[in-house]
Amino acid sequence: MGITGLLLCGFLVVHLAGNLLLYVGAEEYNQYAHALHKQDKLLIFAEAGLFALFAAHILIAGRLVLDNRNARKHQYAVKQSKIDSANNHKLASADLWMALSGVVILGFILVHLADMTLKIRPDFSYHGKEPYEIAMMVLGNRWSKYIYAIGTLVLTAHLSHGVSSAFQSLGINHPKYNPIIRWGGFIFAIVIGLGFMSLPLWFGFFSNGG
Ligand code: HEM
Repeated sequence: MGITGLLLCGFLVVHLAGNLLLYVGAEEYNQYAHALHKQDKLLIFAEAGLFALFAAHILIAGRLVLDNRNARKHQYAVKQSKIDSANNHKLASADLWMALSGVVILGFILVHLADMTLKIRPDFSYHGKEPYEIAMMVLGNRWSKYIYAIGTLVLTAHLSHGVSSAFQSLGINHPKYNPIIRWGGFIFAIVIGLGFMSLPLWFGFFSNGG
């Protein structure tokens, strides 16, 4: 879970860096998108790897939620101290939050793939449009701008807990360094999550298409 989560964070950094070119200008963004697509063999390999990573992350998450639920059921059956049950409750609500936000992000990614990768949104006309125009069409759409703003907000919240717990699940856990890991994870979440969120906010709500 930790490894797949951190590798997906690596994808988010690269993906955000590319998309921030939307602020630089249409020519720069199109050049970047075309250069990426020229590497067709590499791209297929990267996309397959990315798909495998998302699939592994989701499957392991599902397994963890089930295992934790079963473990908790078992513990409730045994007599517990008050502290144990408070800790269990905290863990249960963090699990639930990660699972719910994960489902929302999955929904967002499916819509996003339909919008930008598969280009199958029936209410959009993609024909003859350059990548920059497609991004503006999606981010500026009256429904999509809300979907993108909410999706990236939920992503920020998911990362704010997920990054530090990825380190924990890799066994990187020391009382001296835990606050740094927690704060580092939180700052990463804010920079990456709000970096993405700035795109629908700026191009969808404020500048109306750039
Ligand atoms: C909010 C601003 C975002 C913009 C403008 C944006 C833009 C794009 C574009 C243009 C593509 C198509 C790439 C291509 O085939 O040429 C793409 C693909 C993709 N995006 Fe985003 N994206 C955004 C946010 C996100 C977020 C928050 C995630 C993950 C949570 C994400 C995950 C993906 C994935 C998994 C793909 C497919 C990768 C691929 O086809 O190579 N995107 N995005």
